Amino acid sequence: MCGIVGYVGFQDAQTAIVSGLKRMEYRGYDSAGIALVNERGIEVRKKAGKIANLVQELEDHPIAPSHQGIGHTRWATHGGPTDENAHPHLGATGRVGLVHNGIIENFASLAAGLAADGVVLRSQTDSEIVAHLLEREVLVGHSLVEAMRRTVVQLRGAFTLVAVDAQSPGEVVAARRSSPLVVGVGQSEMFLASDVASFIAYTREAIELGQDQIVRITPDTVEVTMFDGTSAVTRPYHIDWDLSAAQKDGYDWFMRKEIFEQPKAVADTLLGRIGADRQLVLDEMRIDTAHLRTIDAIIVVAAGTAYHAGLIAKYAIEHWTRIPVEVELASEFRYRDPIVTSTTLVVTISQSGETADTLMAVRHAREQHAKVVSICNTNGATIPRESDAVIYTHAGPEIAVASTKGFTTQLIACYLLGLYLAQIRGTKFGDEVQRLVEELGSLSGKMDEVLDDLDGVLGLAEQLRDAEDFLFLGRHVGYPVALEGALKLKEISYTHAEGFAAGELKHGPIALVEKGLPIFIVVPPKGRDQLHDKVVSNIQEVRARGGRTIVLAERGDADAAAFADVFWPLPIVPTLFQPVLAILPLQVFACQIATLNGHDVDQPRNLAKSVTVE
Ligand code: M6R
Repeated sequence: MCGIVGYVGFQDAQTAIVSGLKRMEYRGYDSAGIALVNERGIEVRKKAGKIANLVQELEDHPIAPSHQGIGHTRWATHGGPTDENAHPHLGATGRVGLVHNGIIENFASLAAGLAADGVVLRSQTDSEIVAHLLEREVLVGHSLVEAMRRTVVQLRGAFTLVAVDAQSPGEVVAARRSSPLVVGVGQSEMFLASDVASFIAYTREAIELGQDQIVRITPDTVEVTMFDGTSAVTRPYHIDWDLSAAQKDGYDWFMRKEIFEQPKAVADTLLGRIGADRQLVLDEMRIDTAHLRTIDAIIVVAAGTAYHAGLIAKYAIEHWTRIPVEVELASEFRYRDPIVTSTTLVVTISQSGETADTLMAVRHAREQHAKVVSICNTNGATIPRESDAVIYTHAGPEIAVASTKGFTTQLIACYLLGLYLAQIRGTKFGDEVQRLVEELGSLSGKMDEVLDDLDGVLGLAEQLRDAEDFLFLGRHVGYPVALEGALKLKEISYTHAEGFAAGELKHGPIALVEKGLPIFIVVPPKGRDQLHDKVVSNIQEVRARGGRTIVLAERGDADAAAFADVFWPLPIVPTLFQPVLAILPLQVFACQIATLNGHDVDQPRNLAKSVTVE
């Protein structure tokens, strides 16, 4: 959602904060701002639009040098993306400056209270209210930490707050509830940020903050306490990826770079999963194997692309373990009063580990005494921290809003989880598990083969750049691939695209087919019973009605190729693993259409990388 930065130290604060904001612009990019403490008090510059607008504003209206400040890049919730609504916000006297990520749910009653006291708000945001409340506490003589403590207890909702006081040189104070915040520990400088990408250029030592904690940083110290003033347990850690991983390496977009990183990301996610006895090991599974043997239902909960990974996981996990698997959108899960018991295993999938809908699902599941395993790409994020166990994907930082390597590595983690459960429950023989794990190991090379042969995909994007509608069809695990292919195209090219189960076509959607409509069809490998032939029939059905068929099928599939206007061959893999390959051309196609049509591929309109509001 929003990106937040705090800095105190020997460097020029403006430089450190603006560079941090640039690295977090993917979190939200409809306005940006900065507040620095100097001999004049607090100086604020903020502008609607991307960070480039803020940089221009700072050139036009420079701020006096400072070593202490805060910054923000916004994804609007309360109040539109205007200069006034951009953060930081100041209290009534301008003594306190504050940035906020999240939503203050009781803002209306707090605003009414402030209005009754004669406070005139300058913006339409819930965040400005917190700046006023915090400043009030400071003005009656409390330290910034104590003022923060007295303020957070008045708030309901999810928030990260970072604040400076014009009369407290050398410190920045922050608070966190259900919204991310990490501390970067430097030499004579400290950083606060929504994620480590912000300060990775300066330090790779970090401290993750827990729920309901307040942190005060000075150039040489970090003090963390709980909201109630008691001491807090913190976890320092070393960040094991470097700045180059967060930069584009010569690609035009982070999305394209991340697409091409997938073979390595998949291989990395598999690393270290096989023990000396050739058994599959999941070290992070901190749930007792005896308990895992009692599990009688699995519910996979996720949002967006991660939800599509979950849909594929269902096919694999049910097939290998014979445990019934439901897949649920995180935003729907707790509101339908799901049947969750102590023998239910809830599996959440989240690249960022901060998606609010998914986090709330974790909490709900644990309240019902279910065990929760999270599949996550972000070490130390809130969702894995609040789960019983975690399987980390090792995709490296995913910066583009459109998830690509997040998706394929989530699939790998789901396969590993399914095979691990099959191994410990004995529903697959050891040699069967080993054979499947070996197949997983060969996927990375096969992904390279697909990504080395993209001329056809790029050429087709050129031909179809002006098409207004697309259909994506698939059956079995090809169905979620169709949904994901359509989502990729929608979110970055703003083109209408629908994914359907190919067998459902005849129940309605086939009415959409007209001459020239581009239709992508994912065909299962030939060995898969009658499924293959049924999808070939579906291709014929849409072609007979004038649809332009773009067929993704295994190499040498002459039956499918016979009805394809365009044929994209895929390396041969078992059916359940085909999504890892089939999604690649669809990702590249979406990226290319959006590029050709002049869209900002990495930061599509109205979206944010990490959606930390419900
Ligand atoms: O960080 P998460 O995996 O929890 O994010 C879930 C969705 O918000 C995310 O996958 C979203 O759908 C992407 N923009 C899709 O490309």
